[in-house]
Amino acid sequence: CGIVGIVGKNHAEQVIINGLHRLEYRGYDSAGLFVSDGKQEHLIKSQGRIKNLQEKITSEVNGTIGIGHTRWATHGKPSEENAHPHTSQDGKLELVHNGVIENFEELAEEYLANETFYGQTDTEIVVNLIASFIKNEGLTTKEAFQKALTVIRGSYAFALINNEEPDTIYVAKNKSPLLIGLGSDFNVIASDALAVLDQTHEFVEIADNELVTVTADKVTIENQDGEIIDRDSYQAQLDASDIEKGTYPFYMLKEIDEQPTVMRKLTQEYRDEYGNVNIDNQLVNEVAASDRIYIIACGTSYNAGWAAKSLIESVTQIPVEVQLSSEFGYNMPLLSKKPFFIFLTQSGETADSRQVLVQTNQLGFPSLTITNVAGSTLSREAKYTLLLHAGPEIAVASTKAYTAQIAMLAILTQAVGKLKNSEASLSFDAFHELSIIATGMEAMVDEKDYLSDLVKQYLSTTRNAFYIGRGNDYFVASEAALKLKEISYVQAEGFAAGELKHGTIALIEEGTPVLGIITEEKTGPHTRGNLKEVESRGANTIVIATEDLARPGDQVILPKVHPLLTSLVAVIPTQLIAYYASMQRGYDVDKPRNLAKSVTVE
Ligand code: G6P
Repeated sequence: CGIVGIVGKNHAEQVIINGLHRLEYRGYDSAGLFVSDGKQEHLIKSQGRIKNLQEKITSEVNGTIGIGHTRWATHGKPSEENAHPHTSQDGKLELVHNGVIENFEELAEEYLANETFYGQTDTEIVVNLIASFIKNEGLTTKEAFQKALTVIRGSYAFALINNEEPDTIYVAKNKSPLLIGLGSDFNVIASDALAVLDQTHEFVEIADNELVTVTADKVTIENQDGEIIDRDSYQAQLDASDIEKGTYPFYMLKEIDEQPTVMRKLTQEYRDEYGNVNIDNQLVNEVAASDRIYIIACGTSYNAGWAAKSLIESVTQIPVEVQLSSEFGYNMPLLSKKPFFIFLTQSGETADSRQVLVQTNQLGFPSLTITNVAGSTLSREAKYTLLLHAGPEIAVASTKAYTAQIAMLAILTQAVGKLKNSEASLSFDAFHELSIIATGMEAMVDEKDYLSDLVKQYLSTTRNAFYIGRGNDYFVASEAALKLKEISYVQAEGFAAGELKHGTIALIEEGTPVLGIITEEKTGPHTRGNLKEVESRGANTIVIATEDLARPGDQVILPKVHPLLTSLVAVIPTQLIAYYASMQRGYDVDKPRNLAKSVTVE
């Protein structure tokens, strides 16, 4: 979910709508806003996209203070009723919330036993809880909010307005992100700086469990004990132009195209004048001293971890385990003696990954977050951070963050390998390889028309599809299938080519597309054999192969790059295949149904 708010400016509703549009990647099944000018209040909600909400804003709506929310449903189905802001029963308080309150039922029982509720959300309980503290205990809004925070268990970013005080927004956060933006004669709040870059570039961070009082000319941060915290602001390095899609029909296509530039940018950021890796020595030392690297991630970032595993192992000689955050945190395996944790996360906010980081911090293990977002929660809480410098990724389906993560791991690998003086590191120059890869990526993104036709031919109406490969090609197959299913809704699976015949082959029917990825000399012939097996059972096979392994008739030819970094080029045609499969079906490529880009609930 995403939150935006402003106090001290006319047409607050416009600032909020613009902000919500930019936060739509965080969820878009319903949205709402509350604005007031001190005399007239407006609460407007709508199911579906922000544009539906925008259409409901008539010319009479004009606020000088307001809060808005775009939702990704957790408790309660997407509906206008369950959309935020939620109003207390006495009509005084308006609350928006991002996160999940774990003990909301207990709170309702303990404090609100005599009240009845209309909606079904945890947020509704919280707003009424605060209202009851004001009414029954004579507390001020701030005191009541503070008291509620002490009894609430869970994750939250809250923004609260008491409509009897139409000059103040109260905010607090725990685990979920929220920032304050400073303007002149106004202030803003947002889940992500992107949302309000048209208003300000100056931001103040809020720490967990602080309560912040925001008025037009003042921002007061207090800790749980009510002590005032003095915190410096910082300038967001982002440009509003980074977040425009320009002439592209969708952000995803723009972001696919940006990948060669991202490879070069990483080189620029992490290479020193002598061609060596420029990364904090202490970090490199700690990784080199570890006896096992645990890569923890979700979704596409998890697939990026797998794609980098064999390179890291071969160059650093350190075993690597890749684990899903949502599993690892609850079933931690027996750890090695000197583990090093790497969190891969585009957003730096994924709650599943964060809960593992909290645990590894408690256990005292060193950690690194590799993320695209400076100052994000996982970046702040890990011992080390490496930034991806990929620029904002706005399409919900991740593309450039995936390749940037693999490239970043390759750069780190080189530094660690060199320190360990491993034999493989002597012949591995990450920057040289990334420059070859950048050129190779350029060749692949130029194949748009061809790939669009290929999709028309093989994937335009299919309900399911398979990607197969072995070794690193299997890991790309997993990412390729994820991309296809998330935006085109084709039921796709990425499969280890050799395993297909042990069961899944039963799903192959006349015309089922099976895409084989072949970049490895040793496994290529076997994958070809598996493609033959499915072909003889009616499948339409499509081969994506490296130029030196390609055979006549193969549909997509990949440029030759370092054998352990082939995923960086092999993934590009699969991203474009997913893109065209979605576009040709007429879907909103950037905002696939049911998903959110940044999932801040466990
Ligand atoms: C969400 C997104 C995925 C993403 C995953 C992990 O589910 O829809 O595209 O891969 O979260 O996100 P992260 O920001 O941690 O990389």
